[in-house]
Amino acid sequence: MGLKTTEESDLRDAEHNPTSLKQRAEIETTTVKEKDTMSEQVYIFDTTLRDAEQTPGAALNLEEKLEIAHHLAKMNVDIIEAGFPVSSPGDFDAVERIANEVQGPEICALSRVVEKDITAAWGAIKDAKKPRIHTFVGTSDIHVAGITRSDRETILKRTVDAVTYAKSLCETVEFSPMDAARTEPGYLFKVIEEAIDAGATIINIPDTVGYAMPFEFGKLIAEIFDSVANIGDTVISVHCHNDLGLAVANSLEAIKKGARQVECTVNGLGERAGNTSLEEIAMAIRTRSDFFDGYYTGIEPKEIVPISRRVSRTMGIPVQPNKAIVGANAFAHSSGIHQDGVIKQRDTFEIIDPEDVGWQESQIILSPRSGRNALRHRLSVLGYSPTQEKLDKIYERFLEVADKKKAVHDADLEAIMRDEVRSVPETFHLEYIQVVCGTKISPTTTVGLRAEEGIIEEASTGDGPVDAAYKAIDRVAKIPLVLADYSIRSVTEGKDAIGEVTIRVQDNQHSIVGYGASTDIIEASAKAYVDAINKVVHLRQEV
Ligand code: KIV
Ligand code: ZN
Repeated sequence: MGLKTTEESDLRDAEHNPTSLKQRAEIETTTVKEKDTMSEQVYIFDTTLRDAEQTPGAALNLEEKLEIAHHLAKMNVDIIEAGFPVSSPGDFDAVERIANEVQGPEICALSRVVEKDITAAWGAIKDAKKPRIHTFVGTSDIHVAGITRSDRETILKRTVDAVTYAKSLCETVEFSPMDAARTEPGYLFKVIEEAIDAGATIINIPDTVGYAMPFEFGKLIAEIFDSVANIGDTVISVHCHNDLGLAVANSLEAIKKGARQVECTVNGLGERAGNTSLEEIAMAIRTRSDFFDGYYTGIEPKEIVPISRRVSRTMGIPVQPNKAIVGANAFAHSSGIHQDGVIKQRDTFEIIDPEDVGWQESQIILSPRSGRNALRHRLSVLGYSPTQEKLDKIYERFLEVADKKKAVHDADLEAIMRDEVRSVPETFHLEYIQVVCGTKISPTTTVGLRAEEGIIEEASTGDGPVDAAYKAIDRVAKIPLVLADYSIRSVTEGKDAIGEVTIRVQDNQHSIVGYGASTDIIEASAKAYVDAINKVVHLRQEV
């Protein structure tokens, strides 16, 4: 068939050459007619296991790939690009397992316009219920000269040969003129036409380096429909990279102009700045159904957050907090006005119901700017319904914590509540604590405990600041106790996390647990000790 068996250069080595970019047609300001579209499905082609898996450090093992593929099927993507079988035996095996085991979506394998690639791709997917071969070659002058060190005529011939060969093996063949967005349009149309003649049923238009502007990219898609004579029912797909942060915008614009397949990845992962984000595309089409009149995807939105977490965890790439739809802050409301609005009526500040995409609920991030209403709401979600008087007290406590921390999380609130909601009367209450310690001095702690007779202050040195605090508290309470157990843990993350101290003390008769929480661990320790003392006093009174 005359296909080359080796590629001389690595695809990732293509250099950006700004002068040659000028060869790209000038952006015209003429409007292009939008393709007539009524109630059409936009197919979701997921390339997380291929393009995103190329991300440095994101390599997955076979089991991990399989799990993600099953999850993608559960989310109802239309096509899974499972890998690039010729690239390694491991990739071949993974694509083969996915092809054999994952039901529902088409299973696609990538290949260059190289015979051995196509043979390997087919070898891996031949047993899939719905197999697809995806073959590609760079068509921009910069890729033709810089990667394949070839010429346009040769690339055209290799395209035809490759698509013909792929078609002889597999009914569904997708062809990508790589770097299409920077390819001279006349040549691009010719390559597309010949690929369709050779049997390609899907033509993918990649903006490989994320160079295009939305209007420009949409116009290119419209021109393809207008200029490629045999376009017929061929599905036009788009594959946009995010180097200028425009991958999703470019893909949406392309849909408006007739593209019916979007190549995308979970969390927008992929080469360099990544690919079009699957969740953003799916939710943009769904949320703005008024704008994308009649278009839909088959994506099950409730799987969006779960799969985002799975991919993030398995690839070891955290999701940025402000990432649309799946970022930790995507539904978190911090300002008092926003919190009040969302509590009263969710859609005042949310365009998507977080539960629709798999979040538990909107998050009210409590901060020093939050009011009592937001605090009461959050406490009720956590199962507490304090009286107004109690709420005022908890609010004071909350503000103390909020002033020290940027955000007060549920775990912080739980700690405050465990600390506040006491079962025994406070014979002693820790009013203040002051610690002096360092490397060459004995730690000294001063405590002020409120008792019936007023505030009693005592100080003591000790083996450490906690020991000193406990000795100072002993001087006030005058109840001999033995510290049997002491444990401390951080409730939330970060340097400003709340520390929870749980202790066990013993007197002659009882073994009692004391609990204290604070962003200051010495204070938490002192509170735990005072809590235990109060319980001892209470127990002795009961007897
Ligand atoms: O970015 C790109 O052009 C690609 C192709 C293989 C479609 O990933
Ligand atoms: Zn890509």
